[in-house]
Amino acid sequence: MSKNALQSTETTQRQQTTTSGESTEQLRDEWTDYEFAGDSKLSVEGLNVHYGDEHALKDISMEIPERSVTALVGPSGCGKSTFLRCLNRMNDRINSAQIDGSVRLDGEEIYQDNANLVELRKRVGMVFQAPNPFPKSIRDNVSYGPRKHGEIKTGLIARLLGEANEDEEDELVERALRNAALWDEVSDRLDDNAMGLSGGQQQRLCTARCLATDPEVILMDEPASALDPIATAKIEDLVDDLSEEYTVVVVTHNMQQAARISDQTAVFLTGGELVEYDETGKIFENPESQRVEDYVSGKFG
Ligand SMILES: Nc1ncnc2c1ncn2[C@@H]1O[C@H](COP(=O)(O)OP(=O)(O)O)[C@@H](O)[C@H]1O
Ligand SMILES: [Mg+2]
Repeated sequence: MSKNALQSTETTQRQQTTTSGESTEQLRDEWTDYEFAGDSKLSVEGLNVHYGDEHALKDISMEIPERSVTALVGPSGCGKSTFLRCLNRMNDRINSAQIDGSVRLDGEEIYQDNANLVELRKRVGMVFQAPNPFPKSIRDNVSYGPRKHGEIKTGLIARLLGEANEDEEDELVERALRNAALWDEVSDRLDDNAMGLSGGQQQRLCTARCLATDPEVILMDEPASALDPIATAKIEDLVDDLSEEYTVVVVTHNMQQAARISDQTAVFLTGGELVEYDETGKIFENPESQRVEDYVSGKFG
């Protein structure tokens, strides 16, 4: 085989790691070349993450289209949360994490030395797996971000100084709660402690808190995994509504949920590899990879 022929095989076929229950196969770069109409919001190129000696994400490249829902699926430990945290540099907070590669937001590199992380996390907001409201009022939970960013002034000192604008705060809180599909359930008790809400309500409150700072991208890490079926259905409806205005990237290990809520699906498998990325219908009905077919049909994972 000539040197060139060898190189071209190397660029389309990568080595892979499997766990029991998975068949072996050669990965192909074209399985992750998802072509879509419209603009890309996030462009990930050659992303590698190590935690100490562990290579948790291997050479991930993918384009995430704007104003749509991208699902990330795969078995536990395959790097979904790690990938999600790379998109707003939350992994920077983990000392052992070494991140290499490129992530661009609207074409601009987020991994440049002088990047403003506060501004980045405002543009790329996050909703976590377990709802984590502050032990404060519903209103304060929602207005927290805008207050921190100096967009509204509330509280005792601002009131004493005559700087507080309650109308502005009320408007902002109502808008975020409406967008998070929670307003009707809490409008008469905004000053109650958020810890008194149900789990499903708390998760929508955390979404409202994220929306209040006016993000462009919303990252959600298994947002419904701690919720009952009715609360889960509400979160799924919410995700669908949000994608009209926002770019949503959602991790789920529930295949039916991914099929219901997403426009495109990225399948990560053991070893931290992105195996296949395409329209959700294609991934679930006719994937290229045998391992992806086995995974989405529940044969392992
Ligand atoms: N903070 C961390 N420190 C060290 N290792 C981590 C950390 N977070 C994740 N890992 C490791 O990286 C791999 C991917 O984890 P994760 O991204 O949480 O996967 P998933 O979300 O798909 O379950 C796992 O092997 C996990 O043990
Ligand atoms: Mg995870």
